[in-house]
Parts: sequence; C-alpha cells; structure tokens
Amino acid sequence: MGDSCKKAYITTPIYYVNDVPHIGHAYTTIIADTLAIYSRMVGLDTFFLTGTDEHGQKIEQAALARGKSPQEYADEISSKFKALWDEFDITYDKYIRTTDKEHKKGVQVAFEKMLEKGDIYKGTYKGHYCISCETFFTDTQIVDGELCPDCGKETSIVEEESYFFKLSNYQDKLIEWYKKNEKCILPKTKKNEVMRFVEGGLEDLSITRTSFDWGVKLPDSVNDPKHVMYVWLDALMNYVTALGYGTTNEKMDYWPARVHLIGKDILRFHAIFWPAFLMSLDLPLPKHIAAHGWWTRNGEKMSKSKGNVINPKEVADAYGLENFRYFMLREVPFGGDGDFSQKALIDRINSDLGNDLGNLLNRLIGMSGKYSEGVVNSDNVEKYYQAELDEVNESLAKLEPLLFDMQLHRYLEELWRPLSVANKAIDKYQPWNLMKEGKEEEAFALNGLIANILAKVAIMLHPVMPKSTNKISQALGFEIGLDSYTKLIREKGLLAEFTITKVPPLFPRVEEQLLKEVEPPKQEAKPKKEEKKEVSTSGVITIDQFFQTELKIGTIIEAEEVPKSKKLLKLKVDLGEENPRQIIAGIKEWYSPEDLVGTQACVVANLKPAKLMSMLSEGMLLAAKDENGLSLLRPETPKTAGTKVS
Ligand code: MSP
Repeated sequence: MGDSCKKAYITTPIYYVNDVPHIGHAYTTIIADTLAIYSRMVGLDTFFLTGTDEHGQKIEQAALARGKSPQEYADEISSKFKALWDEFDITYDKYIRTTDKEHKKGVQVAFEKMLEKGDIYKGTYKGHYCISCETFFTDTQIVDGELCPDCGKETSIVEEESYFFKLSNYQDKLIEWYKKNEKCILPKTKKNEVMRFVEGGLEDLSITRTSFDWGVKLPDSVNDPKHVMYVWLDALMNYVTALGYGTTNEKMDYWPARVHLIGKDILRFHAIFWPAFLMSLDLPLPKHIAAHGWWTRNGEKMSKSKGNVINPKEVADAYGLENFRYFMLREVPFGGDGDFSQKALIDRINSDLGNDLGNLLNRLIGMSGKYSEGVVNSDNVEKYYQAELDEVNESLAKLEPLLFDMQLHRYLEELWRPLSVANKAIDKYQPWNLMKEGKEEEAFALNGLIANILAKVAIMLHPVMPKSTNKISQALGFEIGLDSYTKLIREKGLLAEFTITKVPPLFPRVEEQLLKEVEPPKQEAKPKKEEKKEVSTSGVITIDQFFQTELKIGTIIEAEEVPKSKKLLKLKVDLGEENPRQIIAGIKEWYSPEDLVGTQACVVANLKPAKLMSMLSEGMLLAAKDENGLSLLRPETPKTAGTKVS
C-alpha cells in the first residue's frame, strides 16, 4: 500500500443467507479485517464493508422450506452473521444487506445506465440454470447433459424472456485490463485461469429472470414488472451501492476498492462480470481481486449434510479468537486449500505463540525485573547489537508488500524471524553471565534490543491479533498506533525507553478440546405418535416403525479397494444430496470396483455414521446373501439418485 493512495476500501463477499456462518465465511472476513486494521494503523482512510446477499431463487426456496417469508428468513440469518462478526470484534464500517432500500435503488440506477449505454438488450434465454450456484450454463458447459459443472447438482432447463448484458463487448477490454495490471487478480495462477477463460470467448449474460419474484425489480422507467434482476448483478453492485452509488454518492470517493476478498469459487463473477459491469458504468476498476482457497475437513469438502462443517464460534471459544485468527492466516498459503486440523491449530498456539512469542516476553519481564526494576532503555543497543538490528529490520521491511500481495502466511513467517533473532541473542549472549562478568552495559543493551524487537513485532502482528498485541504493548509501556509504527517500522528506529510490567502469560498451553460441529440439517419433522416407541413382542413392526429407516436409491459414482482389507470397498454414492456419501461396504468378495461404478443400489440413508478401518462410512448398501453368494438390492430400472424407497 503506497503512500500515494490515501484511501483503502476493503470488502468481503456478501454472504448468502441460506446458510449459517461457518469457518469459510470466517476466513474471508478475518483476512479482510486484518487488512482493514493494518490500513487504519498505517494512517490510511479505511472503509471496510461486509454484509449479506439475500435475493434469489435459492433463498426463496430455503425460506419456503421453513415456512417463512423470504424477508423474515433473510432477517433471521443476516442477523446471525452480524452477531457473529460483532462477537468476533470484526471492525467493519458498514454492514450492507441487498434488501436495503438504498441498495435496491442503486442497482436500478445501474440498470438504467447500462441500458442507456446500449449494453442491455431484451431477448429469450434458453439454457440450463443451477439454482444452487445461481448460474446459467450453456449446453457445452453442462456435465452429462444436466449436471452443473461447478457443484454437480442437477440444473433445470430454463426458457424465458430475459434482458441480456453485452458481456461479449467487453472481452478485449477485460483482457487488456488483465494484461496491464499485473496484480489485478491474486494469486497470479488464478489470474492466468481467468484470462484463458475470457480468451476462449464470452457470451452475453442473462441478467433478469421471470420465473421467481424474490429480487430487485427493474426500474420503473423500463416498465417490465415481471422481471427481477439476476442475483449476481444485484449482489456485485453492493460494492458501490454501499458507498451511495445511485443514491447519495456520499462515500464514492472510497472507490475504487483497494481489494475485494473472495473465495476461489466466486472468482469468475468478480474477475469477469464485475469489471465488465463497472466498465459499462464508466467506473474505475478495483485494484485487486484476491481469491483464497477452501477449508476442508479431513480432506473433504465441508457440507451440512455430512455434518462435518466447522463452527468458527466453537473453535474461537475453545482455543481463543485471536489464536484462531493467527492459525487461519499462518497455516495455509493464500489461494491454496487448507485442511482444518485441531492438531495443527494446537501446535501453532503452543509453539509459535506460546514458545516463540509469549516466552520471549516472559524472559524480558524476568530479566528486566531482576536487573533494572523493569526500566529498559535503548542506550548502546546499536553499539553491541547492530547485526541483530539489521537482520530484524530487513525482515520487517519485507512485510508490507507481502500483506498486500495477500501472502499472509509468508508475512507471518517473516514476522517470526525477528523473534528468532531475539531468542537466539539471549541464548548466545547469556545476559546472566554478562551480569556476572560485570558487563552490565551489554546486558542492559540486550534487554533494550529484546524490548524493541518485541515492540516491532507487536506492531506488525497487531492487525492479526489486536487484543493480544495491545497486552504486549501495555506490558512494554508503549502504544500501538501510527506514531509507534512510523518510528519503529517505517524509520527502522528504536523507542528511547520502556517501562516493563508483569502480565500473566499471554498464550497458555492448550490441549485438544472437543468441538461441536455445525448441526446437520434436521430430518423432516415426524408426526408425534412416531416418537412413542412401540415395543414389538411378536417380531411384527408397525408401518411407522418401518418408516423410521430411510431407504433411498443411490448411484455409485466411485469405487475402490481398501488396501489391506479382504472384504471392504470404499464407495462414493450419490444420494441426490449436495455431496456424495462415502460408504465402506463389505462386498469385495463378490464385486469388483469396475463392476460397481455407474450402477445403483438401495441405501440405508439415516444410519448413524460409523468408522471402519479409520474411514467414515455414511450409510449402508442393502444386499441379500445365501449359499450362492451376495447380491446388492437394486431398482429394476434406473431411478433418480436419492429417490425414496417405500
Ligand atoms: N453471495 C455470494 C457472494 C456474493 S459477493 C458479491 C456467495 N456467498 S457464500 O455465502 O456462498 O460464500 C461466501 C464466501 O465464503 C465465498 O468467498 C466462499 O468462497 C467462502 N466460502 C464458503 N465455504 C468455504 C470454505 N469451506 N472454505 C473457505 N471459504 C469458503 O458466494
């Protein structure tokens, strides 16, 4: 972030309200918060935006499924996101909701402007629509004639009147933008993917829908009330309507955004549609669009149906919010996927935070208390420890570019070098021996070196761990802010004096905690009388008891042998849910993996997941076995995956 740019507008995606907040949402928000705190600390006029994306068919359906109006439902979930960010001390300046009146107005103004510009025309849309991704696909993009290429769910064929945005007009201009702006999309590998996609040709984009209602209406001037805006046009516009675009324009001087933080799954919308919309509106383009990877659990995508979704509040409550922030940013290279592991989190807390940072502060508190009643100054630090200071300042100088290149894991890695210099200096120079040998000046100067290193590290760690670093600065007797940043980091200077006070250990050792996961979706409510358990004495069960077992048709989409097992095969079975289930089946003696892929079988779908040879099995295939062998029970003719068996 250069001096020339005095404003920093930082955004997160606006979160869909069909889901409660999970670790992935927390990740994006925490990165954005870190950048915002940093920008404020270095004196930039910062505006940090987050909020919720509340329109579209997906939300309408989720609300209806719960017997609520879309607005009621959106209010409920939107407030959950807001409450979590407040609890997490996220320093957002505005929380936008796409159901806000000003936002809707701003989107309509944009539509009018694009229309005037000649970038919108009316036509008929025919193609495939994935409700889950709120995305249109062409025949060539679709998988197996009907499946969404992004999420694998079934798409529906849509043929309806629609307004189109002339995206094809912007192909060359987009390519020019990518080429001229080296870092417009981060990381670079992602930029190359986007460029290749655009070079392959862009089709015009359908930007209105008539088949549902829950969306921003077209402007009155267009007089076409059956259309609502396509959710991605509506949603992307939030980045400028939050600044007053189309209404007050009050904060438009923050535009263009310094960085839009997003996940890799929504890069295409941000890196292709959004700049094209902005060009059409004659607005400048954002400086960076930065796409991070996904958090997985035991190598698998998190999903509610699997019940393996990490609840960020649970983690923060169990291990400390700021420890969790540090872990998320340090553990995974930006852009790559990361597997959430409690072991890795615990190691980071006990080792990086506890040993390297917390112990260093304790050592300084101990030494300064013993040798100089807590008063430490920087006299003679340069005389005795210039080499150490040079090494420290060299590392610190690398940090800012790393932060705004989104290399947050490298930022933190580099920030730990000064701590290592400090810890090594104590081991090497042994202040207790210096004192014994009468070399007090050197021993005091060593304390000065350590205090300054800790202060410098605390400043640069502040955006990641604001409260913990404030405790460090209080223990050292200085304040983190623009003045100390300028003196210690920018000017590579030293603070004249520190008054050190004892504080309780900042990063006590942690042990593994039991984490509750985000609750899997509730099964459909069963009639009351089913809950009364009827005990069968005759071996006869009631129909209600039979229906407690949920039987479904599953399509086996992958099968492989389990190494070292004579009986087991590992299957991926599609039950028509968001993600296929993993089922470990003892059928290897009778079926080979090649025979199974593409076939169907009847599956017990509500069996409690169990572990077999340390692998999770999320269901059971029905089979019959007699002296002639075992046969899976299958439908006579193919049935849609997930069809109920009754
Ligand atoms: N509403 C759209 C964004 C519109 S922005 C104009 C949307 N919402 S979302 O709630 O589905 O996702 C929001 C963000 O969360 C995305 O950036 C997505 O990548 C991120 N994550 C959702 N699950 C994730 C993980 N498991 N791991 C990391 N981030 C992931 O898309």
